[in-house]
Amino acid sequence: MAESRRRVWVSQPLFDDIIGRLGEYFDVRGAAEVQAYTAAQIAAHLRGSDGAVVTLNERIGAAEIADAPRLKAIANVGVGYNNLDIPALDAAGIVATNTPDVLTETTADFGFALLMATARRITEAERWLRDGQWRQWSFSSMLGVDLHGSTLGILGMGRIGQGIARRAAGFGMRVLYHNRHRVDAAIERECHAGYVDFDTLLASSDHLVLVLPYSPAVHHLIDAAALAKMKPTATLVNIARGGLIDEPALAQALSRGHLAAAGLDVYEGEPDVRPELLALRNVVLTPHIASASLDTRRGMVSLAVDNLIAALGEGPDAGRPATPINPGVLAIAGGDRKTTAIKR
Ligand code: DGY
Repeated sequence: MAESRRRVWVSQPLFDDIIGRLGEYFDVRGAAEVQAYTAAQIAAHLRGSDGAVVTLNERIGAAEIADAPRLKAIANVGVGYNNLDIPALDAAGIVATNTPDVLTETTADFGFALLMATARRITEAERWLRDGQWRQWSFSSMLGVDLHGSTLGILGMGRIGQGIARRAAGFGMRVLYHNRHRVDAAIERECHAGYVDFDTLLASSDHLVLVLPYSPAVHHLIDAAALAKMKPTATLVNIARGGLIDEPALAQALSRGHLAAAGLDVYEGEPDVRPELLALRNVVLTPHIASASLDTRRGMVSLAVDNLIAALGEGPDAGRPATPINPGVLAIAGGDRKTTAIKR
């Protein structure tokens, strides 16, 4: 009797033409509409699956994979992967992949756009105009903070942080950064960026952009104490993960004039946004769209699909997904779950 094809689950509608490539190798079960899953629903989908393509909205940990003995690979569509419990996947011999590089420049573009919108009050000014308030104009209406000649602080000097630093040079900004590890001198020269400690970064930045990966170790890194170290004229932009900021403390700093403005693309409880943030006029709020250009979102899905095909032992790169998160684990297609080291 012919063996049935292996099954993969695609958690959200992505780009049909790209997802269609999976059909060459697997039986594909996908969502026809955008879904918000419970943990039990994710577990039910993973139960009969050999692989999955998921987005950052699907949290996958020990409970979701407990009853998924066939599952060998998860391709995350996103560079950040705090939605995945990597130790749990490691323990189960499930390879996880993400989508770095393809989104770097688009995300850096957006970080800069959000920074400019925040510093120059662009969305607030548009609301004011639409509300018919222009006749109330005075010479001191809508005064913002300059970018040129100011100091930009970058917290997290990975690929996206470096992209933002390169853009800042074109705006005549002085760039300081803080990172877990100081980056190579050649990168510092290329980015015209100087390394400082965390407190110096907070105190010196006219604009501070958060671009570091989220982990429990940096939960609420920007809390009331950190905010108190910033200049009251400073702006803060977050394009990383919401959990980096203590949002009530941020709302309080913004409403009391201890910080000039904030630009947020990510939120701790997204898609819910705290009412105290929604109520403030000096916050630019966007719905997690930093990587959302058509070409880049297609590139992310394409990389995730290639990763899943390779991780399940098919296609030209069988066994060698391009961007594994846990390269010590590789799911071997077709047989019992095994682990093996991948050479990078
Ligand atoms: C990522 O890739 O981590 C982004 O936040 C998703 O747009």
